[in-house]
Amino acid sequence: MSQSATALSQLASDFRGSLRGLASTVSLLTTEKGGERFGMVATAVMPVTLQPPALVVGVNCSASIHDAIAECGWFAVNLLAKQHEVVSRHFTANSRSERFAVGNWADLVVASSPEIRMPVLTDAAAMICCRVREIIPYGTHDLFLSTVEQVTSTPNSEPLLYCNGSFGSFNSPP
Ligand SMILES: Cc1cc2nc3c(=O)[nH]c(=O)nc-3n(C[C@H](O)[C@H](O)[C@H](O)COP(=O)(O)O)c2cc1C
Repeated sequence: MSQSATALSQLASDFRGSLRGLASTVSLLTTEKGGERFGMVATAVMPVTLQPPALVVGVNCSASIHDAIAECGWFAVNLLAKQHEVVSRHFTANSRSERFAVGNWADLVVASSPEIRMPVLTDAAAMICCRVREIIPYGTHDLFLSTVEQVTSTPNSEPLLYCNGSFGSFNSPP
């Protein structure tokens, strides 16, 4: 028996509330299409396999970066460190064309496909360059199942976390 619209709406609200307790590393998804930069704050980033290196990101179909990723087929996951809270807040508070005014941005030319370039945060905790292999639609979002094509990491970074509507960080014991 299907649930009533009211029950489903309550369930979605309860689910949203429960997710406040899910601590996630904050990332900036970035790409470039037709010479224009696109970027978005995201926590729906999940490693899938190491062989092959693959991850999935969940992107709302209404987000400005959605069609750019779908059309160019490449994007970067810039995993943020705690000093990047200001960059994350700037992304959230500004429209697409202004987002890259804060942060140390450079253009990555993909080694295996030099015709592909995308903005990357040079001091990110990690930069994971991805190539879309499958697009899995689900409700309001598309899941971009992607192979990892290039990676850089900044050693000893402390991740920027988002939990309970606030930013924080995780200090691992020595
Ligand atoms: C901490 C945080 C995490 C987010 N994670 C995601 C995510 O994983 N996927 C997503 O589609 N939107 C996510 N969003 C929302 C998008 O960043 C936001 O809606 C985006 O600005 C919409 O895109 P646009 O303004 O470029 O159209 C997140 C927002 C915040 C503040």
